[in-house]
Amino acid sequence: MIDTKASLSTFAKDIDKGLSASPKCLSSKYFYDEAGDKLFQTIMGLGEYYLTRAEFEIFDTHKASMLRSFLGADESFNLIELGAGDGTKTKVLLRHFVASGIDFNYSPIDISQHVLDLLNSDLEKELPKLKVNPLQGDYFDALSKLNQNHCQKEVVLFLGSNIGNFSNTATEQFLSKLSENLSKGDLLLIGFDLMKDPNVILNAYNDQLGVTKAFNINLLNRINNELGADFDLEAFTHFPTYNPVTGETRSHLVSTKDQEVTIQALEKTYYFKAWEAIHTEVSQKYSLKMIEDFAKNAGFRIVRNFTDRENYFVDSLWEKC
Ligand code: AVI
Repeated sequence: MIDTKASLSTFAKDIDKGLSASPKCLSSKYFYDEAGDKLFQTIMGLGEYYLTRAEFEIFDTHKASMLRSFLGADESFNLIELGAGDGTKTKVLLRHFVASGIDFNYSPIDISQHVLDLLNSDLEKELPKLKVNPLQGDYFDALSKLNQNHCQKEVVLFLGSNIGNFSNTATEQFLSKLSENLSKGDLLLIGFDLMKDPNVILNAYNDQLGVTKAFNINLLNRINNELGADFDLEAFTHFPTYNPVTGETRSHLVSTKDQEVTIQALEKTYYFKAWEAIHTEVSQKYSLKMIEDFAKNAGFRIVRNFTDRENYFVDSLWEKC
């Protein structure tokens, strides 16, 4: 459905703001329409995209130690996942926890009710004994709702380097807010992609098959479909960069010629110079020191860092002080 001027959605307003800015930018949160979700699923299976594989390996290798750490001196906990998605990775842990006969609840939180419904029916079939309590909405609203009803230890999962798509300032704010919503002794298991050979990182965002390029360009297609724009998808190219000093990977869409694009819903035309870039995504890579600082500044202590064999990725377990 195409937005009309009278009732512009946040999406339309954000697109206008980003394309009117200098330099131009669009938020990566808008990558995930139906086509974007599918492309991201494909990316996660690509040879170059080591992140998902590394986190699978971490869960598979360390699931028993993770369970011991989650329990600590307690007999049960409430497992909460922020941005659960299809739960593929989490299922490695859930299967092990259920098989161990542990008393725990699983509360996936996601903004999309559709995603939660799919996950719930999938878990009902695969793990019928698991107690699932899905919560739709904003992470923090859902967390505060959970806090009202529980006196149990909470273990929060924020996986897949989703944190990497925030700026470092936004990360600090997010972690502080998360900390405020937890009680002393609660745990957070959070995935960070580590700094490594810059070529390995760059290849992960510039795969041979061009799936990441299609994922990036799909954002323009989404604007065409939902806002009645006339982006020529052939006239933009995908260009990622990695800065080994800061650990910042940035994705861009670069206009290959002078061109104009009209967005009907905004009744506005935007001009692109040849080789002008739109910044579309940050995928931050971290040093262990950066992770330590984030934990400390948000009021957590690091209990343990779980890594894969190659030290590509870390699931860092933090305790709220
Ligand atoms: C979802 N997020 C952690 C992915 C990342 O690696 O930044 C999204 C992605 N962008 C390009 N490839 C994958």
